[in-house]
Amino acid sequence: MPVTVVVGCQWGDEGKGKVVDHMAKNMDWVCRYQGGANAGHTVVTGNKTYILHLVPSGILHSRPRCVIGNGVVIDPAYLLEELDTLTASGIDLEGRFHISESAHVLFPYHKWLESLGGHDVRVGTTRRGVGPAYQDKVARTGIRVYEMMDHDRLATRLEEHGKHLATAFRGAGIEPPQPIDAAVSEWLSTFTGLAHRIRPFVADTVEMLLDALDRGDKILCEGAQGTFLDVDLGTYPFVTSSTTTSSGAAFGLGLPASSLRKVVGICKAYATRVGEGPFPTELSGAAAEHLREKGGEFGATTGRPRRVGWLDLPQLRHAVRINGMTSLVFTKLDVLSGEAKIPICTRYEGAGGNRSCPPQDSQAWASLEPFYEEMPGWEEDISKVRRFADLPSTARRYVERVQDEVGCRIQTVSVGSSRKAVFSVPAATRA
Ligand code: IMP
Repeated sequence: MPVTVVVGCQWGDEGKGKVVDHMAKNMDWVCRYQGGANAGHTVVTGNKTYILHLVPSGILHSRPRCVIGNGVVIDPAYLLEELDTLTASGIDLEGRFHISESAHVLFPYHKWLESLGGHDVRVGTTRRGVGPAYQDKVARTGIRVYEMMDHDRLATRLEEHGKHLATAFRGAGIEPPQPIDAAVSEWLSTFTGLAHRIRPFVADTVEMLLDALDRGDKILCEGAQGTFLDVDLGTYPFVTSSTTTSSGAAFGLGLPASSLRKVVGICKAYATRVGEGPFPTELSGAAAEHLREKGGEFGATTGRPRRVGWLDLPQLRHAVRINGMTSLVFTKLDVLSGEAKIPICTRYEGAGGNRSCPPQDSQAWASLEPFYEEMPGWEEDISKVRRFADLPSTARRYVERVQDEVGCRIQTVSVGSSRKAVFSVPAATRA
């Protein structure tokens, strides 16, 4: 059974949570492969809204088992809060929620370090300490879950970190938020307690998933953030610290790359971004406010207003190609109702001529001018539509134009936050 990966086509917040929730009911496994509590997936089930930061949204269905993979950085306090909320809502976790023993643990000092360099402000990070936790991982100084499970190993590792922290703060000429020795013993005791609570969920998830693959189980890998926040392929340095694109699912879960054969791209009908970095089709002033309010574009993790703009086809074409997307889900189409004309960026114009895909250099991308074509809009509220054929013809044309331009099938359209507000696009309409 091929493994399916779900990836955001833009800068995150495309509505992946809802799509994963929709697909999860038919899956045996739903797995998170990267990121940390910087992600925020909103899922609406009946009259309940869940915002999940770490736990895969598949947990809201009874069938799939859920995994937080080795590629994720885990803030155990956050995780337990989320698990407690899920348990209080009657969601059964026993035997169906697993944490990789080799995932890295995010400690309070990662948040301290994030503010120390001013990097958080320059990039506009979520300030969840995710960048410094990944820095520790690649510097080979990170603490993994299996070390957190062992009190003595944890004590040794935290002491080492205490020494590094003292040097870092002294070097910066800044007082740490708390005396370091006291903080280290407090963390040891807090994380020992947290370890005790997460122990039942900790497992060798690499082995577990390889066995699942051998059995032919259906595995869904859930990406966080979006393609253009990928640390290598995104708008560097305005990116997150992990591999958000489809290949991240291989090494973030220990699955062979050859097993990732279905890649579903989630694309919002317009574009949004949180934090700094290039955004050629960004709107400003009243036009931005109008779209932001209509789309409820405020961060699920930070509450920050999201930057908003029109759909950028060169960006999408690139996302489809680098992720090897096999189909697309087009979300929040209902938000565009009431727009008389919908501008759509078909290429960029710049000193070096026209471009149909974004350059690798963020600064060069930011200097390009979007070239727009205007698509006719529609007046009707489409949030109750449940069949592609029932959309106004201009809305159908918008969807069809996007799939023709990006060369990938739009298989599903979503027109609202509820679980029911999705429908498939008939094959005849597909690219
Ligand atoms: P970090 O991931 O907190 O280090 O932040 C790095 C960049 O990624 C910032 O621009 C954040 O706003 C952005 N970012 C991180 N997580 C998300 C997300 O889930 N949705 C959208 N943007 C995100």
